[in-house]
Amino acid sequence: MIEIIEKTRDRKPLSRGEMWRWIEAVVQEEVPDYQVSAWLMAAYLNGLTDEEIFTMTEAMATIGSPPPRHIGMVDKHSTGGVGDKTSLILAPLVAALGVPMVKMSGRGLGHTGGTLDKLESFPGFQVQLSTEQLERQVAEVGVAVIAQSHDLAPADARLYALRDVTATVDSIPLIAASVMSKKLAAKSPNIVLDVKVGSGAFMETKQQAMELAHLMVRIGQAHKVRVKAILTDMNQPLGYAIGNAIEVNEAMATLRGHGPEDLTQEVKTLASHMVAMAQNIAVERALGEVSSALDDGRAWKKFVSWVTAQGADARVLNADLPLAPIRTTWELPAQATVASINTKGIGLAALTLGAGRHVKDQPVDHQVGIRCFVKVGQSYPTGTVAAEIYARDAQAADEALRLVKEAVTFGPAPDTANEPILAIIE
Ligand code: URA
Repeated sequence: MIEIIEKTRDRKPLSRGEMWRWIEAVVQEEVPDYQVSAWLMAAYLNGLTDEEIFTMTEAMATIGSPPPRHIGMVDKHSTGGVGDKTSLILAPLVAALGVPMVKMSGRGLGHTGGTLDKLESFPGFQVQLSTEQLERQVAEVGVAVIAQSHDLAPADARLYALRDVTATVDSIPLIAASVMSKKLAAKSPNIVLDVKVGSGAFMETKQQAMELAHLMVRIGQAHKVRVKAILTDMNQPLGYAIGNAIEVNEAMATLRGHGPEDLTQEVKTLASHMVAMAQNIAVERALGEVSSALDDGRAWKKFVSWVTAQGADARVLNADLPLAPIRTTWELPAQATVASINTKGIGLAALTLGAGRHVKDQPVDHQVGIRCFVKVGQSYPTGTVAAEIYARDAQAADEALRLVKEAVTFGPAPDTANEPILAIIE
């Protein structure tokens, strides 16, 4: 194992056999955390060749992964952002168009949220389904969102946990292998990747995100899987809501046709590519169908059938989910234009309220959250409510408000408008 660490440290590529053996040793826990961490830092600093990344991804997807319990026609993955509630909308939307969707999702960590935590805002929502329950739900409803099984790509579970505490997360080869190993293990023939770019994402510049997206598409090609990567903006939160129940409420509004414009546009783009790939039709035609399903209530009806099938009480769907009792607002004291938003700062403000977790397995508070109403490049008159906070107590509300104010910078509008969709890579 020391020789393997030395080779990566000295920029000597690992052979196929060496890489395969290394990942096997990681999964079988034959190497201690300190050696795995040393190798991760070497890979982070020196990078890996395409061949090494392809082999690493294949080994991570294969070693220790059981056959998937269900193979869908299309899968989707986001590299993580702030206010990213797209999966809650996409899953029932594409299912309403006849594309069955079984999505394995994760929990939030750090400043980024997780789909499972958001769904558990519905009292009684079940994220663990038996194989029989899953098959029945897919046959009857066409959509299920479940917890990623612990044994899917177990190498990633170990490597990711160590990357998180060794400052080696934001590495293009390591993110590509992490994302694609989980996607390849789930065996879907079509994959849509939402690659987030900006101050709330792991990739802060478009150039880095393009490099990551191209690499993941090449990994897909090497494994004969069709991958489309869609670069989306994370230089401001997506939509307005950040938290759990508060994001579910916004997702429900979007499914009923009155969601925020940026979120609606992003959902329509992602959904149209997913439907086009699954049904082998043109993206423009898929976009027309996606828009109709949102407008005529089919997507909302599918959402209701889905969440009630997984344990939500249908009565709670007649209104918004309740939020934490202490509400504070930030009103602009003067007319102002938003120059930039430090999106990670807003994510961290939600974290201080208790919407996320500092360490794995910590419980989250589903009812706390933030709505940040201002968008980059827009001007607002005096008295505009720029943000509102839902907290458990006044002290937490004040601290979150301070962080939100710190994250928003006023001044001249940037030269280019923030478009939700930045590029599509096939
Ligand atoms: N999402 C993943 O699944 N893995 C990473 O490494 C980063 C984001």
